[in-house]
Amino acid sequence: MVSPNPELNAWWIKNDYSREEIDQLVQWGLDHFWTQNHQMADLVAPGGYNIMVRGDGCHVYDIEGNRYIDAMAGLFLKNIGHNRPEVAQAVAEQMATLAYTNSGAYSSVPGILLSKKLADLAPGDLTRTFFCGGGSEAVEIALKLARQYQFISGHTQKTKFISRRGQYHGSTPGPMSVGTGGRRGSGIFDSMLPSGTFQVDPPYCYRCPWGFQDRTNSDCCMQSPRALENMIKGEGPDTVAAFIATPIPNGSQIPADEYWPEVREICDRHNVVLIADEIICGFGRLGTWFGMERFGVNPDIMTVAKALTGGELPVGGVMASKQIAETFDNTEGPSGAFQHGVTYGGHPAVMAAALKNLEIMEQENLVENSDAMGRYLYEQAMAVLQENHPSVGYVGGGLGLLMNIELVKDRRTKEPYPGGPQGEFAKFLTEKIRSYGLATRAGESITLSPPLTFTRELVNETIDILDKAIGEAEQAFPPEGA
Ligand SMILES: Cc1ncc(COP(=O)(O)O)c(C=O)c1O
Repeated sequence: MVSPNPELNAWWIKNDYSREEIDQLVQWGLDHFWTQNHQMADLVAPGGYNIMVRGDGCHVYDIEGNRYIDAMAGLFLKNIGHNRPEVAQAVAEQMATLAYTNSGAYSSVPGILLSKKLADLAPGDLTRTFFCGGGSEAVEIALKLARQYQFISGHTQKTKFISRRGQYHGSTPGPMSVGTGGRRGSGIFDSMLPSGTFQVDPPYCYRCPWGFQDRTNSDCCMQSPRALENMIKGEGPDTVAAFIATPIPNGSQIPADEYWPEVREICDRHNVVLIADEIICGFGRLGTWFGMERFGVNPDIMTVAKALTGGELPVGGVMASKQIAETFDNTEGPSGAFQHGVTYGGHPAVMAAALKNLEIMEQENLVENSDAMGRYLYEQAMAVLQENHPSVGYVGGGLGLLMNIELVKDRRTKEPYPGGPQGEFAKFLTEKIRSYGLATRAGESITLSPPLTFTRELVNETIDILDKAIGEAEQAFPPEGA
């Protein structure tokens, strides 16, 4: 039993936990806390169960006292880093003043201020935000919003959605239906998914879906918008409601400069709503406030979540363009109200966390730092990892602090090591990386998305750790031609 810390209201927070307390917590965790994305066999394996107890800046600490560089900023969201008492203070003050308001009947001061701030920061004329509790919910809402917008605009047959193959948009039915990256359970949930969703191949040069080899980025990437337009024409433009995609879905799928402008033109030509899923790319991740700014394109609808509060409290949001908002405003009767409601949308404490988070981002120039550190990280990864390690097939990055390092057994054929994230190579490498003090995930690739407060020293340390860990993994599992 964890003995209370009499100095804190949060009595479970302590500097040291005894061996008995740790063992008890692990057992209770295994029994009662549903760890996501894991099988029990992996959790009970030696070193398989980790309890994090503290965060500070770009570091996190586990219950055994080990320190790690948080190389994924939690899960792409602690952009301001850990331990930000200013946010906690703002949230506490808001909670002591008004801790809840029903967004179905009222708004709140922090909710209004946050939506105005987002309208100022967002690209184009995205003007009105529907708040919710997380990213999957935001994608569900964005799809419904696009559909109802088309319906009230008189395009009642525009019901279909197009997305890109292999992308992740969340775990609930709507996002699963437009996403094929994970969580669909090999068909187990197909009966729960809405029909009328279609996919085109993404711009992904390293593993070009059209089989091009060694072509310039723009040559092959532009097959993807052509596939999109063919799909729209094939299905019938008067049946397609929206196209949803992420500016850069993982660090390595960086489209050519012409890709997004071309997609924008195609959507305009066929009156298809363009939804940008900015749940990872938003709030500085790509070295711009929002990912679409990198490509000079304004979406009609944008989903946000994660780093909007810097991960301090759960949040999601859907931003709509002026035209979409006004179409609702000018529609009489029940269809003029968007048919969606969520109890926790616009929670005042969450709004307060987001306002303070954005203030910190501006004061500390974190978007600019993401751009500068992202370039440095990319240079170092190319110079050290790509240069030294035959298992490093491709380094995707350079646009802000988002990087995906693709690992291969054979650089020539690009064949990955067997078993994916569950394979022996991935498990060995993950364990090595962690033992050297870097918290991230490694499987067929290594993801890096550290806090935007990252420094050159931390970049160097990260690259050193990866250099060592990949080197040892290559000795244990020699790549072809090494
Ligand atoms: C691009 C994208 N969309 C949607 C989601 C779903 O967000 P959440 O996990 O908050 O439901 C994620 C989560 O990682 C994401 O990366």
